[in-house]
Amino acid sequence: MDHIPVLVNEAIAGLKIKKVGVFFDGTLGDGGFATEILKKLQGGTFVGLDVDPQALERSFNKIRSLKNFSKVSRRKEEFLLEDKNLKVFLLQRNFAQIAEIVQEKNLGGIDGIVLDLGFSSFQLEESRRGFSFLKQEDLDMRFDPRLDNRASDIINQLTKEELNEIFRFLGEEPLSRIIADTLVRQRRLKPIIKTQELVEIVKDVYGKKYRYRSKRHPATRVFQALRIAVNDELRNLQQALNSSGKVLNFGGRLDVISFHSLEDRIVKNFFKRSDFKIINKKPIIPSEDEKRQNPRSRSAKLRIGEKIKNGKKKNL
Ligand SMILES: C[S@@+](CC[C@H](N)C(=O)[O-])C[C@H]1O[C@@H](n2cnc3c(N)ncnc32)[C@H](O)[C@@H]1O
Repeated sequence: MDHIPVLVNEAIAGLKIKKVGVFFDGTLGDGGFATEILKKLQGGTFVGLDVDPQALERSFNKIRSLKNFSKVSRRKEEFLLEDKNLKVFLLQRNFAQIAEIVQEKNLGGIDGIVLDLGFSSFQLEESRRGFSFLKQEDLDMRFDPRLDNRASDIINQLTKEELNEIFRFLGEEPLSRIIADTLVRQRRLKPIIKTQELVEIVKDVYGKKYRYRSKRHPATRVFQALRIAVNDELRNLQQALNSSGKVLNFGGRLDVISFHSLEDRIVKNFFKRSDFKIINKKPIIPSEDEKRQNPRSRSAKLRIGEKIKNGKKKNL
């Protein structure tokens, strides 16, 4: 299943892509944004990152058929495609490391960076890593298979208080405490390793004590919280924003698409406090048409910032 890119026209327009420049896609996914950028970029450098090797492979296959590259090379965690004027790096790296990558590859200043947060439809539907509460899979949830801790490690090893914090803060789960209590009781009998074991426990908590009338599946928030915790998503985002602020050229653009309020708040506050001009006062959201065609886009918010000179912000 191919991932349908969300808010792609708005995000690409927001990047102000030049014919020649240096552009980053920090979240390659299925290569949807990357291919749109590369259709416009004729010279310079493009760097695409993803911590998931499957995403890298899928993007590589799409990108290599896009142009007539004269040189294509691949090492385990790095692909390089080149033609006379353009260099394309695809790296299995974390977007929190943007500043290091810019240094390592000697890229100088960057003209645009896009981050399209969260997971891809491929990861949800086909990666078998336990992202979906509708499937029966191992509770893994790592985007990056090099990470040590899976979701099942978190569930089986953290204290009741720590689990409560994760569900409450990262999932905004109203029943966080009682779910954490129940998990800790259940795991004494048998470790919780499968998605449906977790789903049953959460459903049970909701079913016994409360009636859930919402259309949302009762395990939505718990799964979201675990995924964010496993992948340290909020810290990586904050680090990527800070790095972007350092490596972007003046006039360079940063686009961030987020899918829940915690991320959006981080992005909003970052743009407010840093040397960025905010391009859209309100975040850009998908049209009714896009929401209908791609229900996954429903909660998306795009914020665009332009790097400006130190201290110039007050004068804008
Ligand atoms: C929503 S998808 C991107 C979809 C992409 N824009 C497209 O059009 O196909 C998000 C991707 O970001 C990757 N990702 C998540 N956190 C990351 C991080 N800290 N560093 C690099 N990639 C990350 C995920 O593995 C996933 O493939």
